[in-house]
Amino acid sequence: MGKISVSARDRVFVLTGAGISAESGLPTFRAEDGLWAGHRVEDVCTPRAWKRDPAGVWEFYSKRRAAAQRARPNPAHVALAELEARLGARFFLCTQNVDDLHERAGSARPLHMHGELAKARCERECGRAPVEDRTVPQNLAQVGYCACGGRLRPHIVFFGEMPLEMDRIQEEIARATLMLVVGTSGSVYPAANFVHWARQAEARTVYVGPEAPLNAAAFTHVIKGMAGEVLPGLFRVE
Ligand code: APR
Repeated sequence: MGKISVSARDRVFVLTGAGISAESGLPTFRAEDGLWAGHRVEDVCTPRAWKRDPAGVWEFYSKRRAAAQRARPNPAHVALAELEARLGARFFLCTQNVDDLHERAGSARPLHMHGELAKARCERECGRAPVEDRTVPQNLAQVGYCACGGRLRPHIVFFGEMPLEMDRIQEEIARATLMLVVGTSGSVYPAANFVHWARQAEARTVYVGPEAPLNAAAFTHVIKGMAGEVLPGLFRVE
């Protein structure tokens, strides 16, 4: 595969999914040994699940938080941080991932549209901002409370809830000239629509992953391969 040229006029929008953290040892969702293989989404990642079984929801997310803390960024995260350093404000990173591997690889401001494992927020939507929380509660008694009295919940966007900062995301896609999508199956909306929005903005659209995503037809290039092997050296910045 040739390189992807990035000219001085290009604005790059990057969307990443669980696949970019796979080589760091974090499981993806829809692989046969993936996260959803061991759990039913409706048991751990919906508002109803939270109301019915907050302990079960915390158990699932505490395990993922501990795993993310043990994981290390891989060459794909580093390659994106290096591209960001070269492009500055002409680079925008949006991730569906809730781990902090992009930050730990040097990305300054990834937008976590599905939330973050390293934060917790009030279950009551009282308006207070999410708080940094790297604890690994073993039971509900170890889970803190908001100043308003509401119990803290994982700062994760559950199925049925709106992804975060969609206005900002739509703005950035509208002005991107190149969209790079890495390691996402294209199963979940609105993220799976981003490539269609980019095509409407007449951007080049490139996918990187070992399997074609469900929305593969919308990409101008599909590069088959592991992110950690393909991304380093993929870009020729002019
Ligand atoms: N490099 C690049 N891509 C990879 C790699 C790798 N080393 N290994 C696997 N992949 C790809 C798979 O081929 C698959 O297409 O990563 C993708 C992972 O897809 P999913 O498991 O569906 O994860 P994702 O698309 O990020 O899920 C989106 O769904 O469950 C919700 O909120 C959750 O953010 C998540 C959203």
